[in-house]
Parts: sequence; C-alpha cells; structure tokens
Amino acid sequence: MKKIQLLFAFILVAGLSASTYAQTMTNMNMSSTAKDNSIQHAVCVINPTQGNTVSGLISFTKVEGGIKVTADLEGLAPGKHGIHIHECGDCSAADGSSAGGHFNPMAMNHGAPMDAMRHEGDMGNIEANDSGKAHMEYVDHSISLEGSSSIIGRSVIIHKNEDDLKTQPTGNAGPRIGCGVIGIAK
Ligand code: CU
Ligand code: ZN
Repeated sequence: MKKIQLLFAFILVAGLSASTYAQTMTNMNMSSTAKDNSIQHAVCVINPTQGNTVSGLISFTKVEGGIKVTADLEGLAPGKHGIHIHECGDCSAADGSSAGGHFNPMAMNHGAPMDAMRHEGDMGNIEANDSGKAHMEYVDHSISLEGSSSIIGRSVIIHKNEDDLKTQPTGNAGPRIGCGVIGIAK
C-alpha cells in the first residue's frame, strides 16, 4: 500500500515538473518575441497652447548608451526655452496645465540633462535663432522608451522662458507655450 502511494506521489511530482517546464519554455519564447518588438523610436508632435505659435517635431531613438533626442521647432521667440517631459500625456488644457509636473519617476530634484540628479523629464533648453527656428540634438542617458519609467504616453512641454536648471521644481521656465504627447513610432 505504502509503495503505491509513493508511486502516485512520484507520478504527480513528475507531471507537475513537466508542465512547469513546458510553461517556462512558453514564457521564454514569448519574452524573446517581445524583445524583437522592443520600442526603438518614439515621436512627439508639438502644437501651440492657446495664444502661442510654436510647433514642430521631437523624435526619440534608441542608440548605444541612451536615447537620441532630435528636436526641430519653429514659431518661437529668439533665445532659450525650457523643454521638459511632463508626467501626463494630456495637452487638452488651454494653458498646458493638464500635462502635470516634470516627469519624475525616481523622486529626484530638478536639474540639467547632463546632471546625475535630475528629473527624468529634464531636457534643459532649446535655443531659437532670429527667425524663431530651433534645432537640438543630444543623447540622453536617463530617459527610456520601455519599463516602469518609460516616457511613452507622457508629454513634452515647451516653455516661454529659459530653464535656469536649478529652481525647484520647475526651473522657473514660465508659461507653457507648446505641448505634444509622446507616442510609439515606426
Ligand atoms: Cu516643463
Ligand atoms: Zn525638472
């Protein structure tokens, strides 16, 4: 009798192990498929908030060691303008306030894009020339297109004034003149 019970227990354990193994293999296959579909590019179309004129495109591309940010804007006043990723992908408010505060998943202080201590959303300033056009390119070592602190579905806000890179928690960059939602791109 004891031997039969032992045999049943053995069969049960062997059966469970086999099904766990099969499940593990299935999960591994699924995760390798997901990796092939990992997000390589994101894009953000900037539109002006009420009473403003800035528009343009910001692209985010996965590169070795970070995310390459390329921004091209027009309709700006000449000079520097704060540019940040904000927490919410919501540009519906006339003044851009629906985008919330700077995207800050690590609970850090406001800073410059090259600082170790910075909000994930801190992209510093973009400078417009005399005709109101601005181009910016750099590799950001903090932001990510995947994982719990992904920037997908957040927003980019363009500010009227220069970000001083130190005033907490906003950089004192003034009103929000442009807004766009960051989405997945091909
Ligand atoms: Cu901002
Ligand atoms: Zn900030």
